[in-house]
Amino acid sequence: MKLFDVYPIYDISVVKGKGSYVWDEKGTQYLDLYGGHAVISIGHSHPKYVQMLTEQLNKIGFYSNFVRLPLQEQLAEKLGKVSGLIDYQLFLSNSGAEANENALKLASFATNRKKIISFTKSFHGRTSLAVACTDNPSIIAPVNENENVIFLPFNDINSLQETFAKIGNEVAAVIIEGIQGVGGIQIATNEFLNEIRNQCNQFGSVFIADSVQCGYGRSGKFFAHDFANIRADIYTTAKGMGNGFPIGGTLIAPHLKPKIGMLGTTFGGNHLACTAALAVLEVIETENLIENAKKMGDYAMSEIRKFERVKEVRGSGLMIGIELFEPCDSVRKSLIFDYKIFTGSSSNKNTLRLLPSLAVSKLEIDIFLDSFQKSLK
Ligand SMILES: Cc1ncc(COP(=O)(O)O)c(C=O)c1O
Repeated sequence: MKLFDVYPIYDISVVKGKGSYVWDEKGTQYLDLYGGHAVISIGHSHPKYVQMLTEQLNKIGFYSNFVRLPLQEQLAEKLGKVSGLIDYQLFLSNSGAEANENALKLASFATNRKKIISFTKSFHGRTSLAVACTDNPSIIAPVNENENVIFLPFNDINSLQETFAKIGNEVAAVIIEGIQGVGGIQIATNEFLNEIRNQCNQFGSVFIADSVQCGYGRSGKFFAHDFANIRADIYTTAKGMGNGFPIGGTLIAPHLKPKIGMLGTTFGGNHLACTAALAVLEVIETENLIENAKKMGDYAMSEIRKFERVKEVRGSGLMIGIELFEPCDSVRKSLIFDYKIFTGSSSNKNTLRLLPSLAVSKLEIDIFLDSFQKSLK
C-alpha cells in the first residue's frame, strides 16, 4: 500500500526530539521554530511529560466514556484554574476540527438556529461544518458546501453590525480566531471582538473563540481573545493542549446546558490524552511558560522589525508572522537546508510563521535571527 499523497513534504524524517530541537535519522540537528503546526507547547519529550505518560501507560492507556474517567475531572479542574474559566464545562475530543465541529453543533442545538458567521482568511479545520466555516473553497468538497455559513470581512465592524441588523435572530454562532494562524498571523482587534460580544449578547447568538492555534498561552495570555477583555461562550483548543498527543477541548460557558447523548466520541478524553494534557498544564505553570512566550515573542519581534527586507511583523507572544516583500518560499527552504531551522508557511505566500515551543530560549531566538539575516541575503 502507498500513502495517499496529500502533503507537500520536505524530504527529512524526524526521529528524535528534545526541547526546541529535532534530529533526523542521519543525526542532523534542526532548531524547531514551527513545533509541527504549533503543537509543541512545552518542548519535545519534556521529562515531566515523558514520565507522566509512561507511568499512565503502565497502568492503563485507554477506556471509553461509558465509565467515570477521573482524569477528565482533574483536567477540567486544572484547565479551569489555569485558563481562568473556572465555571466552564469541558468536552474532550481528539483534534481542533472536532473541537470546533462540536462547538458549532452545540451552538445550533442551544439556539435552535442554523446561520453561522465566519470571517475572511479563517481556518477552522477539515470536518464537515468546520471546513464549511473555513475561507478556502479549494478544501470544501461539494457535499460540505453550506449555505448557512456567512463569511464577513475580518475586523470589519460595519459589516458585522449590518449583518446582525438583517438576520441577527437567525445567527446561531460567530466563530473567530483571536489571531488567525493559517491566514498569515492576522490579529483580531479588541474593538472587533468586543463588538462580536455585543452583537451576540443582543441577539442571543453563541460567541465561539477558536483558540486551537492561538490559545494555550502561545499569545502571551492563555487565550489570545483575553487581550480584548471579553468572555466568549465557547473556547476551542487542541494543538498545544497535548504537546503532540492528539486531544481537543470544547470549553463551554455555564449557560449552555448539556443533555445526555447530545455530544459524544469514542477516543476523546482517554487516559493517555488527559495525562498528556495534565502534564502540559503542570509544566506551563511551573516553568512560567506563558510569561516566557510573551518575553521571547516581544524580543524576537522587536529584533525582526529591524531587518530591512522585512515588510511587516505581526503577532503576539510566540505566534509570529514575518511578511516579506516577496514570496518567502526560498527563505524558508534556505532556513531548513542551509541553517537547519524549521519555520512555517501560511496561506499568504509572503508570510513566514514562527510557532516555537513556549519554552524557547533567547539563545535559540538569536540563532534564528543570525540565520534569518543570512538566508535573506
Ligand atoms: C485555528 C485553527 N482551528 C482549527 C484547526 C484544525 O485543527 P486540527 O488540524 O487539529 O483538526 C487548526 C489547524 O491548523 C487551526 O489553526
